[in-house]
Amino acid sequence: MAKLIDGKAIAAQIKDECRDRVAGMKAEGIEVTLAVIQVGSDPASTVYVGNKKKACEYVGIRSLAYELPGETTESELLELIAELNGRKDVNGILVQLPLPGHIDEEKVLDAIDARKDVDGFHPQNVGALCIGKPGFVSCTPAGIIQLLKRSGVEIAGKECVVIGRSNIVGKPMALLLLRENGTVTVTHSRTKDLQEVTKRADILVAAVGKPKMITADYVKEGAVVIDVGIHRNENNKLCGDVDFESVEPLCSAITPVPGGVGPMTIAMLMNNCVESVALQQ
Ligand code: GUN
Repeated sequence: MAKLIDGKAIAAQIKDECRDRVAGMKAEGIEVTLAVIQVGSDPASTVYVGNKKKACEYVGIRSLAYELPGETTESELLELIAELNGRKDVNGILVQLPLPGHIDEEKVLDAIDARKDVDGFHPQNVGALCIGKPGFVSCTPAGIIQLLKRSGVEIAGKECVVIGRSNIVGKPMALLLLRENGTVTVTHSRTKDLQEVTKRADILVAAVGKPKMITADYVKEGAVVIDVGIHRNENNKLCGDVDFESVEPLCSAITPVPGGVGPMTIAMLMNNCVESVALQQ
C-alpha cells in the first residue's frame, strides 16, 4: 500500500512556522500585510479569497481586502495596484485570477511590484527562478517541493516527469525539481506516447486538468505520484487528475484529493508573505 502524503498536516505545520515568525516580527514592531484584490464575484474565486483571508488571520498577517465590482476598468485596477506598490505598509499584493475578460491579465500581473508579488507570477520572479536567483516562487509548485522534502522523498538524481506546462504550475514545477537536482522531463498535450514517458518517472507530477486521466498505465511501480488536479466527479465528489483507486496500489507514495496539494498553496502564500519582509528590507 502506498504512503499517503498528508498535505493538510504539512500545510498546518508550515502555517504554524509562519505564525511563529510573524509573532517574532510583531515583537520587533514589524507588521506583515497582504493586499488581496478580487474583481467580480466568480464563486470559486470568492471561496479561494475567503480561505486566504482566514489563513492570514490564523498566521497573524494583516489582510486588506479589495472586492471590486465586475465592471471595474483595467485602468482603475492598475491605479489601485500603483497605489499599493507605493505603500510602505503593504508587503504583498495578490490579484485573484481569473480576471473578467475585458482586463488584460498579463498587463495587470506585470504591474505588481516584483518585490510584492507573493504569487510569484511576475516575469522578474519567473526569470529569477530560472537562473537560481532569490525571488518569489509560484505557491503550488513550491508547496509540492515541501510535500516531497517533508515526506522524506529524495529528489536529487531522480527521474521527474511533469505533465502540464502552465505558467503557474508545470513550468515552475520543472524549474524547482531541476533546482533540487532532479532529471526533469516536461510533457504536454503534444507529447508522443505519453505513457511511455510517464512510466519512466520516479516522481510524477500530474497537472493536466483532466479528471482521473492518469491511471495505472501511466505509472511505474514504486513511483511517487503528486496530483495537482481538483475536479468534481459525476457524484459531485472531489477528485484529481490521477485515478487514485487505480494508481494507489502501484505507487510508493501519493497525494490524495482533497487534502494533498490543495492546502499547500495557501500555506506557501503565507510563507511568501513572511519572506516578503526580508526581501523588501
Ligand atoms: N486563481 C487560481 N489559483 C490562483 C493563485 O494561486 N493565485 C491567484 N492570484 N489566482 C489564482
